[in-house]
Amino acid sequence: MNFEIKYKDARGRVGTLKTPHGTIKTPALMPVIHPGKQTIQVSDYGAEVVITNAYLIYKNEDLREIALEEGVHKLIDFPGPVVTDSGSFQLSLYGDVQVSNQEIVEFQEKIGTDIGTSLDIPTPPSVKRERAERELEITLQRASEALEVRDELMLNSVVQGSTYPDLRSKCADALGKMDFQVHPIGAVVPLMESYRYKELVEVVMASVTHLPDSRPRHLMGAGHPMIFALAVAMGCDLFDSAAYILYAEDDRLLMPGGTLKLENLYEMPCSCEVCTSYTPEQLRQMKKEERRELLAIHNLRVSFAEMRMIRQAIVEGSLWELVEQRCRAHPFLLEALRSLKNYSKDLEKYDPPYKNSAFFYTGPESLNRPEVYRHLKKMRRIPSKKSVLLLPRSSKPYSERLYDLPEKFYRITNEQENFEAKQDSLEHPKQSAESLNQQIIETQLEDMQVTVVDVPFGVIPLELDQVYPLAQNESPDSYDEDSLKMVGNVLQDYLEGFDEIIVSEEVAQTFALNTLPLEEYPFPEPLNIVVDDQKRIKMIADYQFGEGAGNGLFDGDVQIVKSRKTGKIRHVYDGEELIATLRASDGVFVLAREGARRLHRYLPYPKNRVVVNEDAEPFAREGKSIFAKFVINCDIDIHAKEEVLIVNAEDQLLAFGKSILNGKEILDFNTGQAVKTRKGGF
Ligand code: GUN
Ligand code: ZN
Repeated sequence: MNFEIKYKDARGRVGTLKTPHGTIKTPALMPVIHPGKQTIQVSDYGAEVVITNAYLIYKNEDLREIALEEGVHKLIDFPGPVVTDSGSFQLSLYGDVQVSNQEIVEFQEKIGTDIGTSLDIPTPPSVKRERAERELEITLQRASEALEVRDELMLNSVVQGSTYPDLRSKCADALGKMDFQVHPIGAVVPLMESYRYKELVEVVMASVTHLPDSRPRHLMGAGHPMIFALAVAMGCDLFDSAAYILYAEDDRLLMPGGTLKLENLYEMPCSCEVCTSYTPEQLRQMKKEERRELLAIHNLRVSFAEMRMIRQAIVEGSLWELVEQRCRAHPFLLEALRSLKNYSKDLEKYDPPYKNSAFFYTGPESLNRPEVYRHLKKMRRIPSKKSVLLLPRSSKPYSERLYDLPEKFYRITNEQENFEAKQDSLEHPKQSAESLNQQIIETQLEDMQVTVVDVPFGVIPLELDQVYPLAQNESPDSYDEDSLKMVGNVLQDYLEGFDEIIVSEEVAQTFALNTLPLEEYPFPEPLNIVVDDQKRIKMIADYQFGEGAGNGLFDGDVQIVKSRKTGKIRHVYDGEELIATLRASDGVFVLAREGARRLHRYLPYPKNRVVVNEDAEPFAREGKSIFAKFVINCDIDIHAKEEVLIVNAEDQLLAFGKSILNGKEILDFNTGQAVKTRKGGF
């Protein structure tokens, strides 16, 4: 295997792909080189890898001769990795090609291609199902034939299936079982050309969810920077751009936010060497060839800049923000972004729960992000107390603003209770409404779950108010309609877990709880809410490791040590022994040896485990990082960046560390690190 993942965000991956002519960073953009016609040296503008067309070389006697004698790299004058396509695209354009699958695969091997492609059939979108099925069979046959023909050649095998998600998935499943190195997703050009981005999402998601995570995916024919971020967020790693030259030919400029026509330009739109050296008028006055070359350079610059921006966003954990920005470039992209909601469950498994940057709410689409889905899923598990007190938002973390509490509260009564209360007061006429209230107030504040209601996370128990991303998020002060509706729904579910609901006036008004029967609820003055440290550490552990983990980790008489500077919890000890440290940046626990021991004792196998083989055991015990190839089993629900236990086949604890991949990826990969070990020594 030649592919490694270094960083993850959404379904996106920053990684490396090794080829015979060098290693490239992914996600990568591969400029399309027209053999024999190319004038621009694309490596000058940032290309690490290029793609060219083996069929065009094969068909032209002169080119074929040079390629066979000196190799494709010499032919196109590019020393780095060269990917070749097979002529399938010509097949889709002209309905016919003068070469067989076997011939073109053999040819690609002979000319020294790094990654070759079999002669798949690019079935267009929206064809009859029978045709899609029939052509898919041929594509699969040709893929397996290519495997028999090739010697050392790394091979693409293209996912087809038209716009039938189940056929795409079926094709991906079948190809994934065979020994290919890269999986393109094919026949999407017509979708992109007609702005059918929502269907593009369906096709890509149906494919990537069934492809092995350990192989890079190439979104074939995607060369407009406007869709790179979205495609990467769905798990695409490679792109090819003929767009840079095709758009230049038409006097059009690619931008991450869309396309500009030179004829409409009053100003040049970017800071590349072309845009800063020429005015639109100067370019318009130029000879066609000269202008085309300059616009192509602009197009390459912008496309590579976008790819760098995307890799940066993945490393810092802000890919969703970038996707949300880009998808506002066109209403149909926005539609596509919205449709990601249908894939929340899958996206949540890939998206790391802890990131180096804050969650920015950029509009109602942010409500569909995996972080929100994950939080609400966890909230369903967190055990509830009998009564709840709902507070409005303040600045974060909320528990540091408790000196500034609202004044007016209500209790939500239900009709039945009201009736009983009335009956009660009839039978005991001496008991006035006032004394009834007094009784209610006697409910101890300590027995109440204090929860803040906010956008976009809905309900945030005060104990969790420093955990990522519940503290590390920003949203506008004014709530939009979608947020209000969403939080309203969340509240409905959440409140079902409580017998008694006390709500601040502001929360009741904002989230329409005032349509329920309310009675005023006078708290004793001054209202003093304190978050109990013991409850806080247990709830954080439950939230982080699953229900009950808090009791498992912090059972007995534990000591909490706080930061002298910030007053926040830093360490939890059992006597002299450190159990865990609460990381200041994201408010979650980093295990120490005793913590790992306790978690291991408490959580049933294989929960939170990465199981390594005998060979790796001594290395794990020494605290060396765990490579994916030594992993024989693991908890499939592990996310990237989680605290995990490293055990042997007998479930003996060897070490603990932080996962780099999720459970599915750890099992699928055979190269690269799976877990950064913190400590061994067990
Ligand atoms: N280029 C653009 N789309 C396709 C496709 O579906 N298959 C191949 N081989 N090349 C393409
Ligand atoms: Zn420019």
